[in-house]
Amino acid sequence: MIKKQMERIYREQPLDAIPWHMDHPPDLLRDLVESGRIKPCRAIDMGCGSGSYAIYMAGQGFEMTGVDISEAAVAIAGKRALERGVSCRFVAVDLLGDLSDLGSPFDFAYDWELLHHIFPADRFAYIRNVFELLHPEGLYLSVCFSDDDPGFGGEGKFRKTRLGTVLYFSSEDELRALFQPFFRIEELKIVDIEGKISAHKAVCALMRRKEHAAGFTAAEREIGK
Ligand SMILES: C[S@@+](CC[C@H](N)C(=O)[O-])C[C@H]1O[C@@H](n2cnc3c(N)ncnc32)[C@H](O)[C@@H]1O
Repeated sequence: MIKKQMERIYREQPLDAIPWHMDHPPDLLRDLVESGRIKPCRAIDMGCGSGSYAIYMAGQGFEMTGVDISEAAVAIAGKRALERGVSCRFVAVDLLGDLSDLGSPFDFAYDWELLHHIFPADRFAYIRNVFELLHPEGLYLSVCFSDDDPGFGGEGKFRKTRLGTVLYFSSEDELRALFQPFFRIEELKIVDIEGKISAHKAVCALMRRKEHAAGFTAAEREIGK
């Protein structure tokens, strides 16, 4: 379903009409990189879309892989990287599936506005995949819409966008419970992120991979059901 919707969006909409597409990186990511808190390393952009942020990171010296479920998106991203003379690998893959071909481990993984496309039933499998993509002590940055966001014409956890996609809006507590078995959370906070029409409230988490995924209980595993 999501793959079909995303293929349609990336094939039919010009980039300017895609609500999340930006040419420039978000301030939050730029600050982490340009302050030196995240240093050039082998990194993966999960749900990279049209590739702007992966292209920015590659330009900052990162060895970048960008992945997205949409083949059209990674084709656009690859073309944009080529036009900018930047070396960056883009792969079409479902992040809920088998990622063994990606050649992990990575030192830094981030998902920017991806997790709200992954519903609670799939989140445990997704986070386990992120864990497996990273080196022990690898860093993970995750930013997704908060259920405090007044946007998208409504309230509640599931909200429909004007493009027909349905997003899941998260709380800080549910994300803490989701991440904690796998990562040591260094920061978890609500931030305002830029949108084309208006800013959005998002939950931002910066985490370090634990050596072993331990300590998750049956109750926590329920989050993924
Ligand atoms: C809201 S867009 C954000 C794109 C990009 N991170 C940005 O901020 O410009 C979410 C992206 O996640 C991708 N996506 C959704 N579900 C996915 C999945 N299961 N595996 C890989 N990519 C997925 C979509 O195709 C889309 O490009």
